[in-house]
Amino acid sequence: MRLGILTGGGDCPGLNAVIRAVVLHGARRWGDEVLGFRDGWRGVTEDEATLVTPERAARILSRGGTILGTSRLQPYMSDGGPSQVVEVLARRGVEALIVVGGEGTLSVAHKLHRDLGVALVGVPKTIDNDVGGTQVTFGFETAVQTATDAIDRLHTTAESHNRVMVVEVMGRHAGHVALWAGIAGGAAAILVPERLFDIAAVAAELRALHQTGARSSVVVVAEGARPVAGTLAVPEPSLDEFGHVRLGGIGAIVATEIERRTGLETRITVLGHIQRGGTPIAFDRVLCSAYGVAAVEAAHAGEFGQMVAVDAGQIALVPLGEATAALKPIPDSLWAVAEACRS
Ligand code: F6P
Repeated sequence: MRLGILTGGGDCPGLNAVIRAVVLHGARRWGDEVLGFRDGWRGVTEDEATLVTPERAARILSRGGTILGTSRLQPYMSDGGPSQVVEVLARRGVEALIVVGGEGTLSVAHKLHRDLGVALVGVPKTIDNDVGGTQVTFGFETAVQTATDAIDRLHTTAESHNRVMVVEVMGRHAGHVALWAGIAGGAAAILVPERLFDIAAVAAELRALHQTGARSSVVVVAEGARPVAGTLAVPEPSLDEFGHVRLGGIGAIVATEIERRTGLETRITVLGHIQRGGTPIAFDRVLCSAYGVAAVEAAHAGEFGQMVAVDAGQIALVPLGEATAALKPIPDSLWAVAEACRS
């Protein structure tokens, strides 16, 4: 079979591990050839692709980023875009396209399959872990580890100075990274997009902690966190050229306000793209390998319009329509753990 593969949207650790698994498993098990499209959907609409041989793919397992490049461009941004996808795939002899991406990229895949019958299989990627239909997206666990390492470091310097450290992590619509890293890093407070925060309560908590002997405290803020209306002034977010809300900055606002309300010296760290760069941890390498193998098997079984997923700890397939219907919020049960363990 001739498979196509693309990586779209924001990058994350493990993209190369998926590419490698698709190429190696496809070649060994089925004698497949894999055509890699450049920069996500752009490579398909503009017909820019290159064969990814097993020799090329063999040594990229631990490498961060994506050898194919990525972008947020997608075919529905231009009138003829979707039909160009169909034409290019036919011209290139691609029998199945493996689409590796987050919610945006996978929603486009769903529409192309549903409306134009494009033969494709999705693989859920994003450090945000907010794609529906799967327990986990690859890249998430690595981002959590990176953020946890940062929080550990922040605790030691905070302790020396008796400070509050605010750390802003990614997570525009869902606070999975903030929640997991906050629990793992022993945070005093975790602010997530799913729950409006009350800055007065956060400040009171911090004051109490430091009055009862704590010399360091960490507040983890997801970039999409928002205050209860009328309690804290935050600027209206602007939009980027793809219509995405441009986030970032809430951590600094929170830090300033904590210092003002508690009198405790407070510093802000914005983790930014450090969370997305670098080598995937072992868990993600294994997950990516399993996702890549499953995607190839799904393609050969003609399971198009599906996404590989983890369901009850097992690799499974879920319809793309279901997976992209709604973003996955943080689970209440884990939020309760965070509430119980803050310190
Ligand atoms: O990949 C998703 C994400 O990591 C979001 O959490 C974050 O807001 C966004 O990407 C940042 O994207 P960019 O790389 O375009 O700044």
